[in-house]
Amino acid sequence: MDKNYYITTPIYYPSAKPHMGHAYSSIIADFFARFKRIQGFKVFYLTGTDEHGQKIERAAKEKNKDTLTFCDEISQTFKDLTKKLNLSNNDFIRTTEDRHKKSATNIWKILEKKGEIYLSKYSGWYSVSDEAFYSEDEIENINGNNQSIVSGSPVEWVEEESYFFRLSKWQDPLLEFYSKNKNFILPSSRKNEVISFVKGGLKDLSVSRKSFKWGIPVPSNSDHVMYVWLDALTNYLSALNYPDEDNQMYKDFWPADLHIIGKDILRFHTVYWPAFLLAAGIKPPKRVYGHGWILSGDQKMSKSKGNILDPLEIIQSYGLDPLRYYLIKEVSFGNDGNISEEKLENCINSDLANNYGNLCQRVISFCEKNTNLEVSKKIDFIDNDKKILSVYEKNFDKILSFVDKQDINSYINFLVDQLFAANKYFNDEEPWKKKSDIVRLNTIIYTSLELIRKVTILLYPIIPETSLKVLKIFGTEEKDLKFQSIIEHNYIRKGFKIKKIGILFKKIEKK
Ligand code: ME8
Ligand code: MG
Repeated sequence: MDKNYYITTPIYYPSAKPHMGHAYSSIIADFFARFKRIQGFKVFYLTGTDEHGQKIERAAKEKNKDTLTFCDEISQTFKDLTKKLNLSNNDFIRTTEDRHKKSATNIWKILEKKGEIYLSKYSGWYSVSDEAFYSEDEIENINGNNQSIVSGSPVEWVEEESYFFRLSKWQDPLLEFYSKNKNFILPSSRKNEVISFVKGGLKDLSVSRKSFKWGIPVPSNSDHVMYVWLDALTNYLSALNYPDEDNQMYKDFWPADLHIIGKDILRFHTVYWPAFLLAAGIKPPKRVYGHGWILSGDQKMSKSKGNILDPLEIIQSYGLDPLRYYLIKEVSFGNDGNISEEKLENCINSDLANNYGNLCQRVISFCEKNTNLEVSKKIDFIDNDKKILSVYEKNFDKILSFVDKQDINSYINFLVDQLFAANKYFNDEEPWKKKSDIVRLNTIIYTSLELIRKVTILLYPIIPETSLKVLKIFGTEEKDLKFQSIIEHNYIRKGFKIKKIGILFKKIEKK
């Protein structure tokens, strides 16, 4: 079995500093990267910045900055964010790096050599904000301004000499590819959207621009720069040292297992990208998951709308793990989700402080008071203990399948149920009434500690910092963390002295 796993986020435009939408995609990808690692996979998690094209060139001009200097500065804020979000990414790619230029240039050369690219003239609508071409039927005129129906972004008329990619030729092979790879596009609602777009007919795609210079030059004609999306998508290969197809990175990790993206860029990843790759004779990725939008009010949160929530400010006020937990749990994965500080506070109070925090706190302080934090050497499970402990082995395959289907909602629901169940177990067993039966008292403590340990492993991909803090009290370090160990009932060493922990999550006082 292939035990390698390659996961990516979009590479973000460094046209303005990152916002909650970017944080969201990266945190989601981090969830999968961390889970697959503790499942025993060798994981490569890539993120980065997409630095070419007119959008960036204009943004730099507006600030009166040299384009690369501008990119350096903002790309750094995205890189800083990976640390602030505690992302476990293995690399951070910038499309202005030589390794990427080499890779994108190579793709172009192959496509041109195979006759997949030809020179002609483009005339049509272009949105600089989306870096996308739109056909006449995708444009509407609102108050005298032409804009894309798809994204609402302003469009301008472009007429210039341009190279074209023979996308039309790939319509049938793409449809065949989708039908052979049923889960290439998830969630399935998005798959249907893409398939009907492709069935509607594909026109050849303009893949170069002549009217500005900020891009990777077309190798055979330096009057042109490559279309920024052909350039950008190739980043997923560049980070594996493509075009060196014999190197271990490429051999281990291509084709990518999962591209996490927002639904705004679905067409690029599920139509253009596999078409470029099929045309170049490279295997397409295994899956693209197009998640929904973080909304502000009822609008997409975006730089161009200026309605952004700054992840750094939220982290400052509430801490990182609460934010990670909140985004992963409360935004139903795949759908749009409205976020607010009020909902974040409720989530911290109910799930993190009352449910998880309280479970850890009460069990450990009971253990402290009654056994001086020492785990007894004599444990005697009764049926009730075995029943609750075995929920994990009964659901083991199901949890793995939730992850492999990107069904984060079911994963979290299972986890929250287990938090309630563990709290209920401790309540119902009333260990404080068992002081005369010390074996029973110790067994209830042991079972509760095992339940904490198991649920904390499930929490690790979501709230890694807190989880590691909790697992440390049992002597488990990150490098030893194994998902497999959730099915063990005697994992915590008998006679082991566990460590105390402080308050994990402070309850937020409502004003
Ligand atoms: O599109 N809600 O970059 P970008 C959820 N450079 N996710 C959001 C979001 C929101 N409100 N806003 C942004 C680009 N995102 C290209 C990508 S990839 C080869 C090139 C996330 O800076 C989401 O993942 O506009 C979305 O697809 C991405 O950021 C767009 O980031
Ligand atoms: Mg965008």
